Order: sequence, then structure tokens, then C-alpha cells
Amino acid sequence: MHMIRPCDSKDFDSIYSIINEAARVYRGVIPEDRWKEPYMSRDELQHEIDEGVVFWGYQQGAELVGVMGIQHVRDVTLIRHAYIRPANQNQGVGGKLLSELRNQTNRRILIGTWAAAVWAIRFYEKNGFRLVSPQEKDRLLKKYWSIPERQVETSVVLEDQMKDKRFTA
Ligand SMILES: CC(C)(COP(=O)(O)OP(=O)(O)OC[C@H]1O[C@@H](n2cnc3c(N)ncnc32)[C@H](O)[C@@H]1OP(=O)(O)O)[C@@H](O)C(=O)NCCC(=O)NCCS
Repeated sequence: MHMIRPCDSKDFDSIYSIINEAARVYRGVIPEDRWKEPYMSRDELQHEIDEGVVFWGYQQGAELVGVMGIQHVRDVTLIRHAYIRPANQNQGVGGKLLSELRNQTNRRILIGTWAAAVWAIRFYEKNGFRLVSPQEKDRLLKKYWSIPERQVETSVVLEDQMKDKRFTA
């Protein structure tokens, strides 16, 4: 049995461990000066939640196996911190979480990730997102994200290609 549900404060430790377990694939791939272990500290995770990131979880039996955050910023919606436990990757969990979240909003949906995380870019492209141009990426990252300049240089932004469907539906 599985279900997708919003996370609450009782899930904090599970979210923390899923993110840090899944983020280990970044090691040696993303710029070395951006990598640390744990990848996201408890304080950083709490800060993200305080800033309005709402995590949704994919629960299998009694356990959360994946999380994905949604954050409404000004006139857009960001998908933040998508992490599936390594043992549960490539089984459709990420795809299901992503469709749940994109159904929650009619706004333009943006996703930022590491330029070097080619598997993640492929995952989003398969799900109907496309990379925006480098100039547009810089503009969007500065407008909607609070990340250091160095991270802007080494990130990409994808947008929902199906964003126009809402005007015809
Ligand atoms: C990226 C991620 C969220 C995708 O979730 P998922 O549940 O594994 O993905 P799904 O099963 O729904 O989709 C499968 C597709 O994702 C990609 N993918 C998922 N896991 C992969 C892996 N271990 N290696 C390579 N590609 C992978 C592939 O494109 C795959 O499609 P394919 O099998 O046809 O090639 C998940 O793999 C993950 O947590 N990765 C590590 C952390 C990360 O990169 N997060 C993204 C932060 S923005």
C-alpha cells in the first residue's frame, strides 16, 4: 500500500535522512565547493520549511521513501528538494510525486537543479519540463531563489512545458 500525503513535523527526521541519503550521488559530480556532508543540515532544512517549502511524501507501508517540496514564490511555483531513497529510485515514485505537486497549482512551475545532475535533468524532461535558456535561467534564479552567486553559475532551470494547457482546459 502506498500513498502521497503532505508531511508534518513528525516527518522531519525522515525528510532529513531521505534528502541526505539521496544527495550522496552529488558527491564528485557537483562542484566540490558546493558539496558537504550532510548535504543539508537540520537547520537548513528547518529554514527551508520556515521559508514556505511544503514537503509531500510518498509513503510505502509505514515508511516514507521519497519527498518533494513545493513553494509558491511571488507569481510562480517552485518544485524544491526532490529526493527518493536510493533503494526506491527508478520505480516511478519521483514521477508520481511530481504529478501530484504540479496538479496543485495553475501557476508557472519552475525547477532548479545542478547543471551536472544529468539524471535529474533527464527525469524532469521525461516528465514534460524543458531547460530555459542560460540568460533566462540567470534571471529566474536571481528573482525567485535565494542562492549564492556560485550556485547560480552551476545550476539550470527547467519549466513546465505543459504550462499552457491551463488556458485551453
Ligand atoms: C531524480 C529523482 C528525484 C527521480 O525520482 P525516481 O523515483 O527515481 O524517478 P522515476 O522512477 O519516477 O523516473 C525514472 C527516470 O528518472 C531518471 N532516473 C531515476 N533514477 C535514476 C538513476 N538512479 N540513475 C539514472 N537515472 C535515473 C531516469 O531518467 C528514469 O527514466 P528511465 O528509466 O526511462 O531512464 C531520484 O532519482 C533522486 O532522488 N535522485 C537523487 C537526488 C536528485 O538528483 N534529486 C533531484 C534534485 S533537483
